[in-house]
Amino acid sequence: MSFYITTPIFYVNAQPHLGHAYSTIVADTISRFQRLSGEEVRFQTGTDEHGDKIAQAAAEAHITPREYVDLISAMFRDSWPPLSIKPDNFIRTTDPEHIKTVQAILQKVYDQDDIYFSEYTGLYCQGCERFLTEKELVAGNCPDHLKPPEKISEQNYFFRMSKYQEWLIDHIKANPEFISPECYRNEVLSFLSEPLEDLCISRPTSRLTWGIPLPFDEKFVTYVWFDALINYLTGIGYPDGPDFDRFWSGAEHIIAKDILKPHAIYWPTMLKALDLPPFRKLHVHGYWNINDTKMSKSIGNVVRPGEMIEQYGTDAVRYFLLREMSFGLDSSYSADALIARQNSDLANDLGNLVSRSLTMVKNFAGSLVPAPAPSTDQDKELITATEEMITEYRLQMASFNFHRALQAVWKVIGLANKYIVTTAPWELAKDPAQSDRLATVLYHLLESLRLITLTLHPVMPGTAAKMSAALGLEGTPQLNQDGKWGMLQPGTTINLCPSLFPRLDKAQSASTGQEKPVKDKKKQAAAPPKSENEEKGLISFEQFQQLDLRVGMVVAAEKINKSDRLLKLTINAPEERTVVAGIAKSYSPEEMIGKQVIIVANLKPAKLMGVPSQGMVLAAKDGNRLVLSALADIVPPGCKVS
Ligand code: MSP
Repeated sequence: MSFYITTPIFYVNAQPHLGHAYSTIVADTISRFQRLSGEEVRFQTGTDEHGDKIAQAAAEAHITPREYVDLISAMFRDSWPPLSIKPDNFIRTTDPEHIKTVQAILQKVYDQDDIYFSEYTGLYCQGCERFLTEKELVAGNCPDHLKPPEKISEQNYFFRMSKYQEWLIDHIKANPEFISPECYRNEVLSFLSEPLEDLCISRPTSRLTWGIPLPFDEKFVTYVWFDALINYLTGIGYPDGPDFDRFWSGAEHIIAKDILKPHAIYWPTMLKALDLPPFRKLHVHGYWNINDTKMSKSIGNVVRPGEMIEQYGTDAVRYFLLREMSFGLDSSYSADALIARQNSDLANDLGNLVSRSLTMVKNFAGSLVPAPAPSTDQDKELITATEEMITEYRLQMASFNFHRALQAVWKVIGLANKYIVTTAPWELAKDPAQSDRLATVLYHLLESLRLITLTLHPVMPGTAAKMSAALGLEGTPQLNQDGKWGMLQPGTTINLCPSLFPRLDKAQSASTGQEKPVKDKKKQAAAPPKSENEEKGLISFEQFQQLDLRVGMVVAAEKINKSDRLLKLTINAPEERTVVAGIAKSYSPEEMIGKQVIIVANLKPAKLMGVPSQGMVLAAKDGNRLVLSALADIVPPGCKVS
C-alpha cells in the first residue's frame, strides 16, 4: 500500500515556530513509521507564497514579494533537517510547475461551468483571507483575529461548491475515518447541516497582483485557498506524472484545527469537481499554547524550533512534543515540562536502562550477546509485555495516538528496569554456578532493548541509531520482520553507548523547594554551657533540623582509581551533585545506577582521593558489609527526609 503524507504549506508571512514544527514532526514520524512498516511513502511539506498577507509583509520589509518569499521559504526549508525531518518534496506555490497546473485546473473547472462570474457583498477578514459568514462572528469580530471583518462588495468568480454538498455529507458519513479525531468530523457535519454557499475564488488585480492570474480573465488572480490546496496534487506530478497514480490513493493530510474548513469542505468538493477521488484521510490536531497562553508575536512568547534544539537537542524536542500532546487536543508547552520529561523519561528511565544493560554485558559477558537458557516465569513476563508493547505501539501509531504508543513503550522500559533490580545480575555474576541464569537474564534485557529501539526509530531517529549501533544491529529495520521476540543473535558484539540524554537543571525557582536551615550566629555565641542532654550525647530537635537529609537518584557511578573502597556517584537530588561513597566493597557501579538513596545534602564539600564530594550517602554497617538505607516506595529526587 502506498502512503502519501502532507503538512499544510505554511504562509511565508511569519518565520517557522513550534506550531509549524509540530505538524511537520508528526508528518515525519508517520512517514518513518510507515516506512518501518514496509510501506512505500511520500512525504511533502512546503510554503504557501501568494496572497494579501504576503504582499503586505513584503511591503513592510521594503523588498519585492519575490525576494521576500525566497527568503522566508528558505527559512522553512532549512528549519527541518536539524529536527531530523526529511521530506521527499518541498513544494512552493511560486514553483512554475505548480502555477501551470493551478491554471489548467481553473480552466477545466471553468469550462465545465463549475466556475461562474457574479457580484458578491460579504464580510472579508484580511487575517483569514476569506469571507466570513455572520454566524462565524463573535461579538462582531473574527473569532481568530479578534477584529471586525470589512464589508466588501465586488465582482468575482465563484466555484459551485454548493453543488457538491450532498455528495460530501454522504462521503463523510460513509467513511468514518475520513476526518479524525471524531470531534472534528462532527464539527464538519454540523457545519454542513446548513446550506453551503459557493466559494469566491478570485481577487481583482486592482486589489491584489501577488497571485496566480486566472487563465480566462487576466483582470483577476486566484484566491489563495484555490491555489494552495492544489499543492497536494502538483507535488506528486498531477495530472500525468508517474507518482500521481501511485500515491494519490494513499493521500493523508495533517493540519491543525484552524484550517479545518478549507481542508474538510473546499478541498474535497474541488476534487470532486475535478473528477478525482477524495484524499484518504484528514488528521486534525489541536493548538500548542505557551505556558497556557496563546502563542503570539505581540505577547512575545513565540517559541522557535532552532532555540529548542539548541537548548534540548533534536530527539528530546521530538519526544516531548509527541508524548505531551494528545493528538486532536490543545496542549501547553513550557520549558519546565520539557525538562521534567527529559530528566524522568529520557535520562532516568531510558538512559539508565541502556547504560546499565550495556555496562553489565560488557562487565559480565565480555561484550557479547550471551546465549540464553530456557526462560523462567519471570523472563516470560518480560517477553509477554514486550510483545504486547509491539502490538499496542503499531495500533496507536497508525491511529496518530503518539502519546499512547510512547506510554506503551515506556511501560516496558519501566518493567525492564525493574527486571534488572529483581534479577540482580551483579549477584549472579558472583556465583559461577549461576552463569546460565546470568546469560539468560542479560539476553532478555538486550532483546527487550532491541525491540524498544525498533519502536523509537520514527520518534527519535538519532537515539534509535545510537542504540542500534550499541546493540550491533545492522541494516534497515523492518517492523514485520524484526518486531518479534528472539531475533537478537548470541555472539553479536555489544558496544557501550555514549550518554544519550543529559540531565537538565529545572528553572531556579523549581530547584529544590527546600529552605536551608538558617544559622543564628548570635544565638550560637550566647549558647549556654553544655546541658545534661548534650553530656549524654543527645541532640535537640533544632540540631536535628540542621541536617538536610534528602532522597537522591544515582544517575552515574564509577570506581575511583587506586581505591578499592570508594565509588564516585553522580546523584540527582534533583540538582546534580557528586558524592564519593565508601561502598565499593559492597556495591558495584552498575548496580548503583538507578538506585534511590538517602543523602546528607548539607555537608561541607570535601575531597576524597582528589575527587570533590558534596554530601554523604547513608548506609548501615553490618560488620564489614555496608547496606544502603532505602525508602519503602519510589519518591521524586530531592524529597526531604525528616
Ligand atoms: N497556508 C495555509 C495552509 C495551506 S495548506 C493547503 C496556512 N498556513 S499557516 O502558516 O498559517 O499554517 C497553519 C498551520 O500551522 C496549522 O494548521 C498547523 O499545522 C500549524 N500551526 C500554526 N500554529 C500552531 C499552533 N500554535 N499549534 C499547533 N499547530 C499550529 O494556514
